[in-house]
Amino acid sequence: MKTQTETLFRPFPFGSTTLWNRIVMAPMTRSQSPGGIPTAEVASYYRKRAEGGVALIITEGTVVDHPGSNGYPSVPRIYGDDALTGWRQVVEAVHGAGGAIIPQLWHVGSVRQPGMEPDPSVGGFGPSAVLHPTHGEEGTPPTALGERDITAIVDAFASAATKAQSVGFDGVEIHGAHGYLVDQFLWEKTNLRTDHYGGSADNRLRFATELVSAVRAAVGSDFPIVFRFSQWKMGDYRAKPARDPQALEAFLTPLAEAGVDVFHASTRKYWKPEFKESNLNLAGWTRKITGRPTITVGSVGLDSDFLSAFMGKGAGPEGLENLIERMERDEFDLVAVGRALIADPQWPIKVQTGHFEDIEPFNPEALATL
Ligand SMILES: Cc1cc2nc3c(=O)[nH]c(=O)nc-3n(C[C@H](O)[C@H](O)[C@H](O)COP(=O)(O)O)c2cc1C
Repeated sequence: MKTQTETLFRPFPFGSTTLWNRIVMAPMTRSQSPGGIPTAEVASYYRKRAEGGVALIITEGTVVDHPGSNGYPSVPRIYGDDALTGWRQVVEAVHGAGGAIIPQLWHVGSVRQPGMEPDPSVGGFGPSAVLHPTHGEEGTPPTALGERDITAIVDAFASAATKAQSVGFDGVEIHGAHGYLVDQFLWEKTNLRTDHYGGSADNRLRFATELVSAVRAAVGSDFPIVFRFSQWKMGDYRAKPARDPQALEAFLTPLAEAGVDVFHASTRKYWKPEFKESNLNLAGWTRKITGRPTITVGSVGLDSDFLSAFMGKGAGPEGLENLIERMERDEFDLVAVGRALIADPQWPIKVQTGHFEDIEPFNPEALATL
């Protein structure tokens, strides 16, 4: 019997637009924007996914205007006329194919090491001068951010959001996940501050809420703000700072009040119950707690999780029955798909028309090019 997938193809309101279905492209760094400028190939890469039926594209992480925001080669910027002209072409390409698109606003914090673009002499910055766990014992510890630098970074996110608005994006996503700067403030391991940005859980949340409030003030009330968060961190995949639903509520409620419209709960396997109290996944709990729409993610349509991709492993197609059942119960509103869309830009249309056997498997070699 064929899987019934209609539930994935219901419209969903998103700011001033309507998504024609529930499929979102997950943000994925592709390192194909030399000098920080998205190229015509980047525009064509995203346009193909919109043509293939993705309703909302979340771009790869794009770095905000601060000397230490970037940590990887050829990552696009979201500042400077050259990069913004590139983004305008990307937005027009996606809109031309009937899709919506938002950029993921990013600062890598202490993941950055000296030697990285754009200015190799600049090292990393973090809440505290603690070497990020991804660097093990090696590497240069970051500079601890002073209050003035914190304000400058908050302003850089707000400015990036207005730039996104000015080039025609449909909203923004703030990268608050995976152990990058925003998450470094949230995480006890990387935030050892003793001022009002550190210590208690409330204090560690302050940077994130200030950032969301500043972005909201900059873009006005109708421009969607998506906030991506995760329990797991790069360098600690077992981390679980919110141990129970009460801790999750204490974390999410101030963010919702600060102006988050949609929460993007990043997990590696969407079918895993988050807490023992029920079968709900992290996006499910987030929706239940905040009443805000949520995006789920993690191995949708694939038989192994994304860490295996970084170990050079492929992933074959996997059924969508569990996903559909959860969606029919309104556990979450939107579904983000990562590697399956790198492998096959036509994934949504093939799912909609029941051509599951034609879906291309994910091969890690696909990561080398767009
Ligand atoms: C090549 C690659 C690059 C990624 N880059 C980002 C990124 O820039 N920002 C982010 O939040 N997540 C990033 N991720 C995580 C994905 O957004 C997604 O959460 C993960 O791949 C799980 O989805 P999947 O199992 O459908 O691939 C990346 C994943 C991959 C495979």
